[in-house]
Amino acid sequence: MSIKGLLGINMKTEPIYGWLYISQPAKHVNFNTVQKISTVSYRNNRKRNLSGALIYDHRHFIQYVEGEWSVIAALREKIQLNTNHYEILTVTFGEIFQRRFKNWTMSYIGYDKYQQIIPALAMEGFNPYIMEEERLLEIIKAIQMVA
Ligand SMILES: Cc1cc2nc3c(=O)[nH]c(=O)nc-3n(C[C@H](O)[C@H](O)[C@H](O)COP(=O)(O)O)c2cc1C
Repeated sequence: MSIKGLLGINMKTEPIYGWLYISQPAKHVNFNTVQKISTVSYRNNRKRNLSGALIYDHRHFIQYVEGEWSVIAALREKIQLNTNHYEILTVTFGEIFQRRFKNWTMSYIGYDKYQQIIPALAMEGFNPYIMEEERLLEIIKAIQMVA
């Protein structure tokens, strides 16, 4: 048996993938819908060892989720079929070498919070569709801290 085997290290771990996407809430989506998505996601993601964050601001969803490849791939299909949102744009989907988040959280962000976190963008009108991955992740982290 190898040293890793003797130490009980699980060598069958799959690569970790991260998926970052943006979408627009469907017309019928309200706070209640988002609350339900949040409850289901929290339960599922904890069970499946997925970390990341989902941000909702009435006009967009921004989600970053990371975990084992097969788990992320299955979730991705489910999320893409969900009719609570549309115009789903993948910013990145790929292997990462280290998780960026410790757990999974959901944040609702109101206009006042925008101004605190991203004042320049609040004035110009926040448009995540034209933003780069690293900038979006920075914003997700900043929102998580104040939400
Ligand atoms: C914007 C958005 C984000 C979602 N994020 C997650 C998520 O992180 N985890 C999750 O399990 N479901 C998420 N869902 C819900 C899935 O689309 C799906 O309804 C749910 O996973 C079904 O769970 P089930 O396996 O209990 O049927 C999300 C849905 C939307 C619209």
